[in-house]
Amino acid sequence: MSYSEVYSGWKNDPEGFWMEAAKGIDWDKAPSKALHDQNAPIYSWFDDGLVNTCYNAVDRHVEAGRGAQTAIIYDSPITQTKHKISYTELRSRVASLAGALRAKGVEKGDRVIIYMPMVPEALEAMLACARLGAVHSVVFGGFASNELAVRIDDCKPKAIIAASCGIEPGRVVHYKPLLDGAIDLAGHKPDFCVIFQREQEVAHLEDGRDVDWHGFQYGVEPAECVPVEGSHPAYILYTSGTTGAPKGVIRATGGHLVALNWSMKAIYNVEPGDVFWAASDVGWVVGHSYICYGPLIHGNTTIVFEGKPVGTPDAGTFWRVIAEHGVKSFFTAPTAIRAVKREDPKGEMAAQYDLSCLKALYLAGERADPDTIEWAQNLLKVPVIDHWWQTETGFAIAANPLGIEQLPVKIGSPSVPMPGYDVQILDEAGHPMKPGELGAIAVKLPLPPGTLPNLWNAEDRFVKSYLTTFPGYYETGDAGMIDQDGYLYIMARTDDVINVAGHRLSTGAMEEVLAGHPDVAECAVIGVTDQLKGQMPVGFLCLNAGVNRPHEEVVAEVIKRVRDKIGPVAAFKLAVVVDRLPKTRSGKILRGTMVKIADGEAYKLPATIDDPAILDEIRDALQTIGYAG
Ligand code: COA
Ligand code: AMP
Repeated sequence: MSYSEVYSGWKNDPEGFWMEAAKGIDWDKAPSKALHDQNAPIYSWFDDGLVNTCYNAVDRHVEAGRGAQTAIIYDSPITQTKHKISYTELRSRVASLAGALRAKGVEKGDRVIIYMPMVPEALEAMLACARLGAVHSVVFGGFASNELAVRIDDCKPKAIIAASCGIEPGRVVHYKPLLDGAIDLAGHKPDFCVIFQREQEVAHLEDGRDVDWHGFQYGVEPAECVPVEGSHPAYILYTSGTTGAPKGVIRATGGHLVALNWSMKAIYNVEPGDVFWAASDVGWVVGHSYICYGPLIHGNTTIVFEGKPVGTPDAGTFWRVIAEHGVKSFFTAPTAIRAVKREDPKGEMAAQYDLSCLKALYLAGERADPDTIEWAQNLLKVPVIDHWWQTETGFAIAANPLGIEQLPVKIGSPSVPMPGYDVQILDEAGHPMKPGELGAIAVKLPLPPGTLPNLWNAEDRFVKSYLTTFPGYYETGDAGMIDQDGYLYIMARTDDVINVAGHRLSTGAMEEVLAGHPDVAECAVIGVTDQLKGQMPVGFLCLNAGVNRPHEEVVAEVIKRVRDKIGPVAAFKLAVVVDRLPKTRSGKILRGTMVKIADGEAYKLPATIDDPAILDEIRDALQTIGYAG
């Protein structure tokens, strides 16, 4: 079947399409129907099915006779370690960990925070929660204590599973002190913490609260898989919104299983047994869907890569991993390819490896710029597939579905909507726009299985953030257009979210941190264009009257403050002091105009600007830090 046949097949009979896809999952009790719309606009999928995610991701492959197949390859150039875990080994490791969690009181519905680097134990922790029907929330290692504390208070975990440390180039990330700090800051206290001690740094265990990963599994009964309802939350993943409070995106179990299993063949074109690699981090949605769950549910071999595209040890690392492990489909962020290209523009490193196993490269997480796509196409001689999705959706909204049909690639476009997504471009009043016209990108409700059914403990925020601007639609927060051939183009965010090295960050959250500095009267943070990371945050500070200290001191303090409060991942390294911020007469800061000035782009003087002279001051300030050239 062609893509257009599959897409129109879904559109004509969404219920039939998803019930058919649901056959790829082993249910304890098959669902009687797919969509439940009695609470519209809150929808849910496969509610009356009973199923276990871990069973589908692990046990069923062992029972089907594929236990000897490698489930996880751990390749860590940063610690010079490699090892493989078969599906049979994975089952016993996960069952044992789940048994130990259960022995300490973790049950279906309890939340468990996971704060771990890229080690296979992170996936095992996720799967152990899934085995019990416990709801995990993985927190990215680049977040500081304060961000971890905010998540602890929001989801109130019974347990936290953490590693003693992570390893970044040139430094050890002290996870355990960060965890202790977060628990001190948080109002909610977990019953216990499980610490995976890494040999690079062994952490102190708090008597009565912390248990050792291995020690607490001693002598426990391995846990069986607990069937849960299709609508049961599989996990919560926090993502940036417009304010400092992150949004707890919920993923429901049944839809998650069905959609990811479907996507592995339809989008990534892999068969069970093939090696699939997503070079991201378990702390992001890409890591949830395509390092852990998608490949394992589908019976692939997945790779847990602990390293960077460059510097661990060189720009040939990606190609080495692909050649050595026989990767068929490879997924990474454009920023990673840009980093490789910058170090090895001629692709000499890639030429040292036999990459004949690789059939396609997938890019997502941020806009894929044409130069990067063309460079990768020329180097690898395989399709380079840009695809567009979000933490909220859990799998691609738009892609080139190689496993259905390879559509012509249009550079600059993530191609076409996937089944389940009726994507529309809307004007401010919510009217559909014509092909080629730029507007807000919205998806007609209901969203497909696998997408967020709600926000954790925040239904009002869910409705307000996503369902209110355009009634009957999900508001993606992205702006763009659809061309005559139905190809989508993603141009910009419509909110305060910026994308730094494929990481989604909130400028609003950074502004809250800056505003908390005692000398700062007012501030703004914008995302300026960066050749490597796509965007970089830049802060503008107006100081309180009477602050006579050197500006550099205040700048250094706010930079440290963001690193301490949000974490190194914010990559907040640039700030300038200005007298005033450009505003409309009603007091709204003109961030969009500031971005255009920083990027050296032409801009229209906003009609409502209070005092145009301020824009010259902003340009001068930006020039002092190398922008607005
Ligand atoms: N734990 C702790 N700190 C982390 C971290 C983690 N898991 N991941 C990143 N950080 C830190 C980095 O060490 C860096 O700290 P520094 O300011 O002390 O240098 C900071 O967070 C910013 O990280 P990042 O923006 O990712 O830059 P980087 O220097 O780590 O990597 C590239 C830069 C060029 C390699 C980048 O292009 C890249 O590939 N990043 C990863 C892209 C990615 O996988 N995105 C996921 C979406 S699919
Ligand atoms: P995250 O939730 O971290 O996955 O970030 C989602 C956001 O990243 C989207 O809303 C887009 O703004 C951006 N994004 C993701 N993929 C793409 C893509 N292929 N092209 C352009 N922007 C993208």
